[in-house]
Amino acid sequence: MNENNRPIVFALPGNEVFARLLAKHLIADDGEADIRLFPDGETYSRVLSDVEGRLAVLVCTLFHPNEKFVPLHFLARNLKTLGAKHICLAAPYLAYMRQDKVFQTGEAVTSEYFADLICSSADSIITVDTHLHRRDSLSEIYTIPNKNIHAASKIAGWIKQNVREPILVGPDSESRQWVSDVARKAEAPFTVLEKIRTGDRDVSVSLPELTSYRDHTPVLVDDIISTARTMMETVRNLKSVGMGPPVCIGVHAVFAEDALVELKESGAERIVTCNTIPHESNAIDVSGLFVAFIRSLGQQSLA
Ligand code: R5P
Repeated sequence: MNENNRPIVFALPGNEVFARLLAKHLIADDGEADIRLFPDGETYSRVLSDVEGRLAVLVCTLFHPNEKFVPLHFLARNLKTLGAKHICLAAPYLAYMRQDKVFQTGEAVTSEYFADLICSSADSIITVDTHLHRRDSLSEIYTIPNKNIHAASKIAGWIKQNVREPILVGPDSESRQWVSDVARKAEAPFTVLEKIRTGDRDVSVSLPELTSYRDHTPVLVDDIISTARTMMETVRNLKSVGMGPPVCIGVHAVFAEDALVELKESGAERIVTCNTIPHESNAIDVSGLFVAFIRSLGQQSLA
């Protein structure tokens, strides 16, 4: 029996930086695993650390989730086989949350199906600002213990240190939850616009009324920057009402294809994201926010 009851943190490929930060916060061991692709595209997975009786934390951000799920599932299953007591998935970005209803007849509600897959792999899950729009909580679809932590305090801290006289702008009603929280913590004013999306890349955003904030620095805040159409349209509108170039802050740096370049070219002064998806725009570290939930699991599962 393993006498070491420190948690052990495994990084799925590409998650090494976040996993190291998290292991440091948790005073946990770094897990060793060999995960790679065979020439035919199948996944090879081998655990090299002793995990018996231990809380194993798997760090795996889930953008481009299709290719990430199989290695994650194999590692989780193998850890269980090797005697790990509890498998916690730390997924700084959780995918498939936006398809949360049938918009057109015959569509799959993939957020539910993906939740089923994750619940078959892990014993608990923690993520950051997941896209809860038509759902109140992750527990509606995730049947394992779960936690959706908020990056607001970290984003507000960054704004306070880096932006002179900010006025926060949320591009659509869904962003109100993030923008209002960040604004309160940053002690800054905020406004929320209206967005109409007519296609993946077709978005229109209402014109902001910011006459009394002309000398402020606009700071756009949204959860996800994907095609960046939402941000780009808002940047253009701010320009058209005479505001200076905005700082764009996204929690999750999805950035599909050329979105980063296009957003820069649209007139954003600075583009900043949290480190939930590794990206050159990462400037806000949220790894410390994972600690309390994971520690509480350790106390429960190893008692
Ligand atoms: C919308 O529901 C989200 O909160 C974001 O506004 C959206 O995902 C951004 O997408 P895009 O960058 O493709 O406009």
